[in-house]
Amino acid sequence: MVPANLTLRGSNYLTFAQQVTSPNQLIFPITAQVNSQDHLTIGGCDIVELVQNFGSPLYILDEETLRLASRQYRDSLLRFYPGKSQVIYASKAWSSLAICAIIASEGIGFDVVSGGELYTTLMALETIGLKDKAYSLIYFHGNNKSLSELSYAIENQCTIIVDNWWELEALESLAQEPVKIMLRLTPGIECHTHEYIRTGSLDSKFGFDPNQFEQLFSYVSQHKKLNCVGLHAHIGSQIFEKEPHQDLTSVLVKSLQSAKEHGLEIDTLNIGGGLGIRYTESDDPPSIVEWVEAVSKAMIDACTVAGVALPKLMIEPGRSLIATACVTAYTVGSSKEIPGIRNYIAVDGGMSDNPRPITYQSLYRVVLANGMSENAQFKVTIAGKHCESGDILIKDAALPATSSGDILVVPATGAYNSSMSSNYNRLPRPAAVLVNQGEANLIVKRETYMDLVKQDVLPERLSNHQS
Ligand code: LLP
Repeated sequence: MVPANLTLRGSNYLTFAQQVTSPNQLIFPITAQVNSQDHLTIGGCDIVELVQNFGSPLYILDEETLRLASRQYRDSLLRFYPGKSQVIYASKAWSSLAICAIIASEGIGFDVVSGGELYTTLMALETIGLKDKAYSLIYFHGNNKSLSELSYAIENQCTIIVDNWWELEALESLAQEPVKIMLRLTPGIECHTHEYIRTGSLDSKFGFDPNQFEQLFSYVSQHKKLNCVGLHAHIGSQIFEKEPHQDLTSVLVKSLQSAKEHGLEIDTLNIGGGLGIRYTESDDPPSIVEWVEAVSKAMIDACTVAGVALPKLMIEPGRSLIATACVTAYTVGSSKEIPGIRNYIAVDGGMSDNPRPITYQSLYRVVLANGMSENAQFKVTIAGKHCESGDILIKDAALPATSSGDILVVPATGAYNSSMSSNYNRLPRPAAVLVNQGEANLIVKRETYMDLVKQDVLPERLSNHQS
């Protein structure tokens, strides 16, 4: 029987998934199947059993999908770009020891934006015996790095992507020896995405503005402790067009020429991340391979026109590398029918494990994981359990009849879900399991109530209160 819930553009989703091999163009992980009990399985694991064993909400991360996306980025860059190249993972999308270990094992480096992301990455590299490569694998970003974060990055020989004048001066005073840096430029490129995740336009808190480039290059060239190896720009996230990144390559190549004229010996251009993914049928991103081919060609063309040697090309995807590898499983609890208005069903998570719908009005799909072939004939709104009317995961979703105890799965939750999760209403954060060929390993433990008060401090005078 065709699993109606997985229908995509009128075709059986699973057949579609076999034909489409770019994870960012799928909605579910590549291993998604329906078993003989009509349950959704990911990585050979029955979702219903996973919830029985690990509880819900539960993040379920498919190792095969994550490795496939990593390899597609790595291999297509090698295939289409004849110069040196490097893929780094924007670990803000989801950082954990297991995730960093998998990604590093695929030969991919890391973009970190805080001492915490750096610490996690370093620990993961250490566990897989790659700590001594940290200097070539880790790039430290951020518009307001603290002095202690900068010192931490210098200590571990990371490349620092400098965002502003304050940081340049701070590095000058902190560094004992030359520090490897790149300069983050604001390229003045618009792209069509949510304004909160658009970063390349002139009105952005990130990077140096075009009218400062000349002054910047000459400043850096005169300060020998600033060993500038390249330029960086990131124009935004969840982008479906290829043109903005293609345009960015020319802006960066021109800036590279100008930097060289000021005496900077730079050979690296980083065009950031931003490739979009398919959350719902209406999203239509280019595949990872198509995108890498387009930006590689654009870089080659821009260098040919400018008559400069090919730089090392860096890309730093987050969402398109990990989002589709993960689904979130929830258990249905209460429901509410408002005749003629709306039917709600409530799940045991919500805006604390997935803040994207309330923050960006993001759209998601949902399926009934314990009844995959049942007809999705009802229109229901999936509400979270938080004390906030806006805590709605999906408005007007198509689902079969559901009742309390059913398991719902929301796909494409690998990026900016766990990493943006909170304890709002003192909900413990969910566990995460890594699934592969029928095996499920816990990679993030579920928080307990004790964890929730672990950082709380009760001053003595309050606990000694005499009535
Ligand atoms: N590089 C830099 C400097 C970035 O700021 C970002 C994302 C990336 C790379 C990776 O972009 P990606 O490939 O993931 O699009 N929380 C928002 C997304 C914020 C993106 C922040 N920067 C969301 O949930 O949509």
